[in-house]
Amino acid sequence: MTQSSTSSVSRTSTDSIKLRKGKLPLVCITAYSAPMAGLFDDYADIILVGDSLGMVLYGLPSTLQVSVEMMINHGAAVVRGSQKAFIVVDLPFGSYQRSPKDAFITAQKVMSETGCNAIKIEGGKAMAETVNFLVNRGIPVLGHIGMLPQSFNQLGGYRVRGKTEETESEIIQDANILEEAGAFGIVIESVVEHIAEKITKNISIPTIGIGASVKCDGQIIVAEDILGMFSDFEPKFVKKYANLSPLISKAVKNYADDVKDRKFPGKEHCYYKK
Ligand code: KIV
Repeated sequence: MTQSSTSSVSRTSTDSIKLRKGKLPLVCITAYSAPMAGLFDDYADIILVGDSLGMVLYGLPSTLQVSVEMMINHGAAVVRGSQKAFIVVDLPFGSYQRSPKDAFITAQKVMSETGCNAIKIEGGKAMAETVNFLVNRGIPVLGHIGMLPQSFNQLGGYRVRGKTEETESEIIQDANILEEAGAFGIVIESVVEHIAEKITKNISIPTIGIGASVKCDGQIIVAEDILGMFSDFEPKFVKKYANLSPLISKAVKNYADDVKDRKFPGKEHCYYKK
């Protein structure tokens, strides 16, 4: 089953995502702009407009400074730039934690102003009531457990989770509770492999890993990380498929040299009277 969209191409749906459980791994990637979304659309099942944009695009120190307006502007651009992928937008820190009602108000605004297909919120057990509240009111929710970037202050940094028996059972419980609450899938971030494997085997909705091994039902990654365009922080789980930063620097240097040497613009770039 597919959801309708304004174009003739239909987008991936929550049903088709759920049906991928245990089958062909789901390909998920972040995008924050229309051109990038357009480039990824043929290959990604899910495009996430992640609040990682705060660090990657805006140079902010963490995701905590990201606003609902930022998410809406970038979410709308990604929806405009794509036709097929299922678009998920992150709800930023402080916009959903206070109460399920607050979460609904933010999610409704984000969905209606961007045209996205679902929202993602961070947290397991603590967010179960909120996930259930949203799902029962027509808002598809992607959960996010393990390392929670919005809670780095509480978790003691951006650390791998699940190394102790206590955290292992906490993370497993988070996954079970989110499934029960109605999430259509769960992002598992920076968690030791055997926990991701256990969760993936024991729940009926897809798990999407980032630093959680190949045992998950799909993978998600920050595009700029795999393209070599963001080097402030390079986690172990990132594989670089390209190294664009030096190429971009070199291109801009060549442009600057040409301008200073009066080699650009050339005759072919100028307008003349016939
Ligand atoms: O904000 C983000 O990009 C994310 C992914 C890393 C899962 O939440």
